[in-house]
Amino acid sequence: MKILVTGATGNVGRLVVDELLAIGTSDVRALTVDPAKAALPVGVEVVQGFVGRPSTLAPALKGVDVMYLAPHIPTAHEACRLAAAAGVGRIVDLAGAKGDHWQAIEDAVEACGVPYTHLEPGEFMDNATIWADQIRAGDEVRDGHADSANAPIAQEDIAAVAARVIVSRGHEGKSYELTGPETLTRRERVETIGRALGRELRYIELAPDEAVQQLSLVMGEYAQWYLEGQAMLVDHPQQAITTVADLLERPATTYEEWARHHANLFR
Ligand SMILES: NC(=O)c1ccc[n+]([C@@H]2O[C@H](COP(=O)([O-])OP(=O)(O)OC[C@H]3O[C@@H](n4cnc5c(N)ncnc54)[C@H](OP(=O)(O)O)[C@@H]3O)[C@@H](O)[C@H]2O)c1
Repeated sequence: MKILVTGATGNVGRLVVDELLAIGTSDVRALTVDPAKAALPVGVEVVQGFVGRPSTLAPALKGVDVMYLAPHIPTAHEACRLAAAAGVGRIVDLAGAKGDHWQAIEDAVEACGVPYTHLEPGEFMDNATIWADQIRAGDEVRDGHADSANAPIAQEDIAAVAARVIVSRGHEGKSYELTGPETLTRRERVETIGRALGRELRYIELAPDEAVQQLSLVMGEYAQWYLEGQAMLVDHPQQAITTVADLLERPATTYEEWARHHANLFR
């Protein structure tokens, strides 16, 4: 089975390559803009190109059974159309919650007629890096809505699910909503990162206007939109579901484990 991983040096794409190798997949082709810089593992076939430039895709799509589609919305329709024309047997795409910003990826995949599996993660644990500068500078994290709660997922778990779904049968036409194993408030997440660092971190809740200003430093124009999403999660927390554990037959990564493993992001 020939597998094409697009965006192969991306935050998730690179981990998908590793997971495929870890479960013993031998025929992995990785698509990357600059093969010389990509430093992909030995044994992976590296092809030059980018889903954002569909004219580069033809050599990469040749003979592919399953394609992992990186989330690049502007060219998703064209990339999927080309995959269908090249005879790709299935597309496993990284999207997001149904109806959100990433819905455009699922629409593009479904429009091309190739059998598909949608991966629908919510917030990534790695989004905590928006607090990294503040944590390096002191023991207070200033941000909005301390009691906003959701069940963030580790990128490693998304990649592990992608790899499992790519190599095994029975996933056609399915959408997998993916969360971490527990619902946590923003205050609890900051405290968890503190424990991983051996420090006592305090979450200082800012008024909405101040929070937008603070978040704009790390999120630019998306600050207001992000904060509005967090506000809704105060009264309607996202519940954790078991899809990751069900598919991987092991528990999903906890926030505590993630924070310990990635403590260097905050040092
Ligand atoms: N629910 C959610 O919150 C959600 C859902 C889906 C996605 N996401 C976002 O998607 C990211 C994970 O997806 P990913 O690993 O595919 O993305 P990524 O980390 O943004 O990487 C995309 C890859 O595409 C390639 N690329 C080349 N030129 C590019 C360009 N001009 N613009 C963008 N990418 C370019 C690069 O790989 P090469 O250099 O190897 O070509 C790059 O590493 C997350 O970090 C998250 O921000 C979030």
